[in-house]
Amino acid sequence: MIDLALIGGTGLYKFPGLADVEEVRPGTAWGETSDVIVRGRLGGRSLAFLARHGCAHDIAPHQVNYRANLAALKALGAARIVGVNAVGGIRDDMGPRVLAVPDQIIDYTHGRITSFGDGTGGAVTHIDFSEPYSPGLRRDLLGAAQRASVPIVDGGCYGATQGPRLETRAEIARMRRDGCDLVGMTGMPEAALARELGVEYACLALVANWAAGCGDEAEISLEEIYANLEHATAQVPPIVRELLSGR
Ligand code: HPA
Repeated sequence: MIDLALIGGTGLYKFPGLADVEEVRPGTAWGETSDVIVRGRLGGRSLAFLARHGCAHDIAPHQVNYRANLAALKALGAARIVGVNAVGGIRDDMGPRVLAVPDQIIDYTHGRITSFGDGTGGAVTHIDFSEPYSPGLRRDLLGAAQRASVPIVDGGCYGATQGPRLETRAEIARMRRDGCDLVGMTGMPEAALARELGVEYACLALVANWAAGCGDEAEISLEEIYANLEHATAQVPPIVRELLSGR
């Protein structure tokens, strides 16, 4: 059994401070996971960590094998998964370096495999996705951030785009009109697949930059994205430690 699994996004390729570490890579009916899964102990609890883009960051958002990643984590016994996602901020209080736990999703991705039931063996299912993230895990994540004294925004709509390019200003303006507060490339189909598997899932969003047209700058620089992400990513381990100890 695993008390918590963490899927790290851009900027988060390993989890510090794990004891009794072992690397595993269970085979799945859907192919290979993005990388090895690192399993270890943290404060007497078990944590599994998987880098979504691979540790060398060589898997693009639309090429991630989301099904294999989730199926492997479930096979290891993970009943709760937190997806850490780098995002752009759209809403005024979602600027660079902000952490947020969104509560809604709009999916703009295309051409990705979005279900285990796609005619290749798994039964076709129609999951209830009214609340795309698990309310209990969201609540625990927010409580953990509070205990870790990390400011965090409760709620917001995550708009999932195809990438790997960033969006145009017109695309972000449209997403804002649609009600999106954050924009990222990897939130879907991950959340839906977790629901299909019956695994609790929540998103910890790290704002790396203002989305196109939302800040003062005419262009989004990669240096800025990485500097902001480094800052936000440093807040993740204390939250996860609290999340694990609170259960
Ligand atoms: N758009 C989409 N995904 C992202 C962004 C963005 O501006 N920043 C980090 N991930």
